[in-house]
Amino acid sequence: MGTIAPVVEEAPQSVPAYLERHYWWAYVHPNAVRVFERQWLVNLILWGNFGRLRDAALERLGDSIGGRILQVACVYGDLTQRLVDRLDEDARLHVVDVLPVQLENLARKLGSSPRTTLELHDSADLNVPDGQFDQVLVFFLLHEQPLETRRKTVAEALRVTKPGGRVLFVDYHRPHLANPMRLIMSPVLRLLEPFALDLWRDEISAWLPEGARDLRVEKQTFFGGLYQLTEVIRAEGS
Ligand SMILES: C[S@@+](CC[C@H](N)C(=O)[O-])C[C@H]1O[C@@H](n2cnc3c(N)ncnc32)[C@H](O)[C@@H]1O
Repeated sequence: MGTIAPVVEEAPQSVPAYLERHYWWAYVHPNAVRVFERQWLVNLILWGNFGRLRDAALERLGDSIGGRILQVACVYGDLTQRLVDRLDEDARLHVVDVLPVQLENLARKLGSSPRTTLELHDSADLNVPDGQFDQVLVFFLLHEQPLETRRKTVAEALRVTKPGGRVLFVDYHRPHLANPMRLIMSPVLRLLEPFALDLWRDEISAWLPEGARDLRVEKQTFFGGLYQLTEVIRAEGS
């Protein structure tokens, strides 16, 4: 048996106030992992779309993924295991999260994974040099964050991406007017996820850093517009 991917904790991170206040039940509480680490449950929360969104992101990353990849924040379910399965021999995956309990859970899920590093960092301050990664994946994180943190997360994801590389954001999106999910999801999100409706109001491009240039933004929507995959590509030589 191989060794479990080690969790690197360079410095303790304080738990962001929005996580403690609004998401303690989903991520912070010691029982959260035990309750939510179920593929069927995360699929249910996304109305049966987890696999579709996961696979759409993986398809963009590539059948065979090379280079250095960053996943910003852990995800319940098998997204990261499937990403690891696609890594080339020379590829490296870094996953950062602000909660040790989430990184430890991911380490258990991955088991032996020599091409993966798990690190304790806040998405708003990744603490790595510029232009380190070929591709960056941010899966259902932005909707959990208040505006200022979300802006910093977007800026950090772009900062650490190489020229010619890209950032993939998968998240909520404003459903089409005729989509009945609007009626269900609007009160649900208002109640449980207080910042999520920002993704109904604004495009992710609204949170790009001021003065950011040479970026190409492409958006694909799913499930009557309730979900999006937005790709931000940095031009070569930018
Ligand atoms: C990616 S989001 C939600 C994913 C999705 N809802 C799921 O099924 O898991 C959840 C993760 O984001 C992490 N997270 C939240 N705020 C963060 C931050 N500022 N920096 C790094 N990780 C963060 C949480 O600790 C948690 O592991």
